[in-house]
Amino acid sequence: MRELPIGIVTLLFTDIEGSTRLLQQLGRERYVSALSVHRRLLREAFARHGGVEVDTQGDSFLFAFGSARASVAAAVEGQRALALYRWPDEPVRVRIGLHTGEPVAADGLYAGLDVHRAARVMSAGHGGQVLLSQTTRDLVGSEVEVRDLGEHRLKDLAEPEWLFQLGSQEFPPLKTISNTNLPVPANRFVGREEELVALRALLLAVDHRLITLTGAGGSGKSRLAVATALELVEEFPNGVFFVELAPIAEPKHVAAAIAQVLGVRETPARPLIEGLKDHLADKRTLLVVDNFEHLLKAAPIVSELVHAAPRLVVLATSRERLRLSHEHEYPVPPLPEMDALALFVERAQATEGLEATEKNRAVLVEICRRLDGLPLALELAAARLKLLPPAELLARLEQRLPLLTGGARDVPERQRTLRATIEWSHELLEPQEQRLFARLGVFAGGCGLGAAEEVCGADLDALQSLLEKSLLRQARGPDGGPRFWMLETIREYALDRLAAAREVEAARHRHAEHYATRSEQAEDAIKKYGVSDQEYFERIGHEQANIAVALRWALDAGEAALALRLVYGAFRLWFRRGQFREGGRASEEALALSGGPPELRAQVLTRVSDFPKFQGDLVRAAEMKEEAIAFFREYDDELDLASALKDLAEIVGVQGDTARAHQLAEEALALRRAVGVPSGIAHALSGLAELERMQKNFGRAIELHNEVLNLLDEPEGGERTLPPLHSLGDAWIHCGHLDRARDYLVKAVSLSGEVEDMYCLGACFESLARLAERRGRFRSATRLLGAGARIRESTGAAPDDPQELERLQTALCAQLGDNVYEACLREGAAMTMDEASQLAGAASAAASSETVGNVG
Ligand SMILES: Nc1ncnc2c1ncn2[C@@H]1O[C@H](COP(=O)(O)OP(=O)(O)OP(=O)(O)O)[C@@H](O)[C@H]1O
Ligand SMILES: [Mg+2]
Repeated sequence: MRELPIGIVTLLFTDIEGSTRLLQQLGRERYVSALSVHRRLLREAFARHGGVEVDTQGDSFLFAFGSARASVAAAVEGQRALALYRWPDEPVRVRIGLHTGEPVAADGLYAGLDVHRAARVMSAGHGGQVLLSQTTRDLVGSEVEVRDLGEHRLKDLAEPEWLFQLGSQEFPPLKTISNTNLPVPANRFVGREEELVALRALLLAVDHRLITLTGAGGSGKSRLAVATALELVEEFPNGVFFVELAPIAEPKHVAAAIAQVLGVRETPARPLIEGLKDHLADKRTLLVVDNFEHLLKAAPIVSELVHAAPRLVVLATSRERLRLSHEHEYPVPPLPEMDALALFVERAQATEGLEATEKNRAVLVEICRRLDGLPLALELAAARLKLLPPAELLARLEQRLPLLTGGARDVPERQRTLRATIEWSHELLEPQEQRLFARLGVFAGGCGLGAAEEVCGADLDALQSLLEKSLLRQARGPDGGPRFWMLETIREYALDRLAAAREVEAARHRHAEHYATRSEQAEDAIKKYGVSDQEYFERIGHEQANIAVALRWALDAGEAALALRLVYGAFRLWFRRGQFREGGRASEEALALSGGPPELRAQVLTRVSDFPKFQGDLVRAAEMKEEAIAFFREYDDELDLASALKDLAEIVGVQGDTARAHQLAEEALALRRAVGVPSGIAHALSGLAELERMQKNFGRAIELHNEVLNLLDEPEGGERTLPPLHSLGDAWIHCGHLDRARDYLVKAVSLSGEVEDMYCLGACFESLARLAERRGRFRSATRLLGAGARIRESTGAAPDDPQELERLQTALCAQLGDNVYEACLREGAAMTMDEASQLAGAASAAASSETVGNVG
């Protein structure tokens, strides 16, 4: 046997690109001869640099090198040899991946995560390409020319990998799973080869676009769905997305859960479901909706989406079918004996050094049989092998399970087995661990350590023990700390135990308190210390499911103060995620409860009035502001009063009562002047300026906006100068000073791009469209209109000046005729931001400075 290098080793994997296609094309004989030439060339090249051949399989090689530099030289030489060879038919192209690690050598082969990683690095590449992992790249130093390809997620690997390419040649994007949010499981996927093949075929067949994996809790539906979807990432160019429904409590939140994953927002004119349909319409997307069983009422949403998007495929998991007409049900069978054994032994090995030997094999097989090949039951039992030897474990299971499954005869056998296994596993816990276990059931979508301690009185030992027994799982939270979560079947059992201990109300109350305090603090930090929205999202962005559950409890329990605190804290989550209906509904419910501190109520009112406002219900929005204002007046809260007055002025102005709007805006301004902070005064002044613009008093609007810019005293390009820049540009168009208007608008466009203010960017493009129209460039104007409308609609905002917009649309359409007009609109909507900005600059320029011939 050859000597394998040990210690730090660089692994080099190769693989022929498109070998199946090549085989079909060349026929067996010519393919085999090409294959053997390729082997000879690579072997010679790699051997010259000290490579040791570890493994050959079909069209791929694994070589090992004691030096990373030597491996790079070998890869270069190998690629060169293949490129220079005169292939009689099609050239053979090979991808190569290099990764350096410390694999374990045994029986002439290597084992360990580094081998997987090296193989995955290779699979991400294209024929002719050589990819390096970060470790290899670090070792070869700077003499070697590499291209930084960024961070990528690789199949089956929890940690993403930074990848580099040797040389500077151009290749298509890497074939990694970055275009997906699929969770990366913490352990290996076992067996299910047939199911994977069958599901793949089903999901790619044209006539099946909704497939539901069904089966009892813990039978492996979710895991199978994820494994199947991972294999399909390359087949769905618009992405493979995973929507976890287990933490979602109410059917009416399903659309929002999907929208959040896809980044779709609600707009006043368009409810979420319509937004989702538009978003998915022409895309080739695979949507995995996991754990649907408790939300079956929302199943028609899935139908609607599949109907509206002809290339969309949905893979659902649910304990029962969704009962939709085109649904294809795929029942997930238990694991066959050998796979069950493999899973059981693997999980046992993770904690104990268990091996399946000739001697204990019969016992292990019997345990798996006793557990009906149910993955979750296998995991729970395996976790107990730490203390109980296999024979003892089997004896206990035989003794306990029949008693535990005794009860309900009307549920299927397998479900009873699982339930009994969970109960048995629970029985073996210490009383204090049992208490913690039950309480942890109140979290939706998991929790961090602090929450577990505060809500459940958790201590580290008990948490550790539950983790070891597979009753609790641990992942890395968004803050880098641990996040604890439960499989759904287990969580349901925990909640049963909580009810049996009569602790539900107390635990739910503490849960609601905890999330009320946390979300309130996150919102306060913005209000009191001016931290960024981003920090707010870092703090509670991942807790929306917990907050929703907490709020539901507070509302049902009539806890007005708690409910208001939660709404106060969660307002921004709903608002920024475009969930106006959900936010609006929740706030109305909380406000309808009697009680709660009046100050809190006023703070809630002044914020949540944005929900009806965005949905076009100005009457309700104004009513909310009025109530808040009355409170702020009574309690002399001047700053809140000033900003509420300014907001109300805007609403009243749109409603058409300009006299009252002026009065309110003036009052806001007077208050701000009395306090004397320039940015505050600017804020109020800009309200007044916008009113003037709305009433077409452009001269006055310009005057006021200039004052705003002076007061802001921000360095050129400060974020807050954006709204006045746009308004000034727009007002100057009306006054006929097109060059001046252009200066402001072009500046505003580049600034909105920098600070990613999509609302303002859309408005700027629409203003620039007007400018282009004034210059007689009707096609460009229409394209800009298309670009602006698309951006603005994505933010859900109403047009800046609806009447003017309508006039412009009609005028352009009349100039160009329906067909050209529509085509230009579409072209504009398809433009990238950069293209649209360039067009805007050119089309708004005066004729003399025009350089682009086809602007017209
Ligand atoms: N083929 C497999 N290989 C490895 N682990 C598996 C496999 N199938 C299931 N498991 C593990 O078994 C446990 C239960 O599986 P899973 O969560 O997929 O069940 P489920 O059917 O979705 O249950 P529920 O109805 O409660 O959602 C999980 O820890 C999962 O990782
Ligand atoms: Mg599941």
